[in-house]
Amino acid sequence: MVEYAIEIDNLVKKFGDFTAVNGVTLHIKKGEIFGLLGPNGAGKSTTINMLLGLIPPTSGNILVDGIDMQKNPDKAKQEIGVVTQETVVEPELTAEENLMIFGRLHHIPASELQKDIDFALELSDLTDFRNKYAGTFSGGMKRRLETAKALMHAPQLLLLDEPTTGLDIQNRTQIWNLLRQINKRDNVTILLTTQYLEEADQLCNRIGIIDHGKLVALGTPAELRQKIGMSAVVEVAAAKDYLDKIASAFKKVGLDPQVLTNKVIASGGNAPVDKVDKLIKALTLNKIPIHGISMHEPTIDDIFLKLTGSSTRDQTGADNSKAAALMRRGR
Ligand SMILES: Nc1ncnc2c1ncn2[C@@H]1O[C@H](COP(=O)(O)OP(=O)(O)OP(=O)(O)O)[C@@H](O)[C@H]1O
Ligand SMILES: [Mg+2]
Repeated sequence: MVEYAIEIDNLVKKFGDFTAVNGVTLHIKKGEIFGLLGPNGAGKSTTINMLLGLIPPTSGNILVDGIDMQKNPDKAKQEIGVVTQETVVEPELTAEENLMIFGRLHHIPASELQKDIDFALELSDLTDFRNKYAGTFSGGMKRRLETAKALMHAPQLLLLDEPTTGLDIQNRTQIWNLLRQINKRDNVTILLTTQYLEEADQLCNRIGIIDHGKLVALGTPAELRQKIGMSAVVEVAAAKDYLDKIASAFKKVGLDPQVLTNKVIASGGNAPVDKVDKLIKALTLNKIPIHGISMHEPTIDDIFLKLTGSSTRDQTGADNSKAAALMRRGR
């Protein structure tokens, strides 16, 4: 039996002279829940699309359950269930009809189809909604229906591209539970992409962090946490002109500042609350106007900063993926 569900070696994808995926090597064992974590434009969907055989790699190899995706795509694809980044349920059909059509497309014998549908509905907690139109479903319910759909042909490998982006925490937790159940019950290998550190942390056995098409870190959540240190991050946002003064205030209270485009951050170390308290006093005393001050657990952005020396979203949380992508492409 093949040990790995997925073996990716030196995978590269270029669009013109822009490199979206830049030499990714990743081996995912059967039964793992693996999270590919990265910001907008990191190369997550491009990687998934190559794994699905939807776009050809520029170079590199992909094996799915030992089957070469380029040489034997149809066979490799049979192993995979997929939930794409865009929601693709049929709104004019009921939950049950959505599953039925998908089951027929996958040539599930009529004698087994109803049983499979019942099981998929139960697993995704949608049994009570089987006769409701998918168009009336909440975002979370649509995502669960899609996951149910992906499981209809009993794949050994499930790929999900940002299954919970935009969902509230309750819906996110429901999807996590669904994935855990599938993994535990049938030992289905799960590869999901996410922008949420806590999702990767809570759900995944292993995490790969991808940025600018490169894997910048790989390990269990515990290994990554150890690598970055789990101390709190102290952050002060302000207009550009004040950042140097703020950095001086950080130093005065014993924090080691890093100045970004519109904020100063530091790893909190011991007694971060005391330091924040002193910092507020120092900033007030010097009448430095700020936009915000916070202390938080390291976010995906903080981890990137630590691992790559540059921030992924160096501009207060705004989704600047398109601008960043264009910048990277030299426009
Ligand atoms: N068909 C394409 N042609 C040109 N550039 C592309 C194409 N597909 C993706 N890209 C670029 O490749 C980079 C990676 O895109 P990708 O969709 O893989 O990112 P992602 O990690 O999935 O981001 P998101 O979280 O926003 O979905 C981006 O800069 C994107 O603009
Ligand atoms: Mg994507």
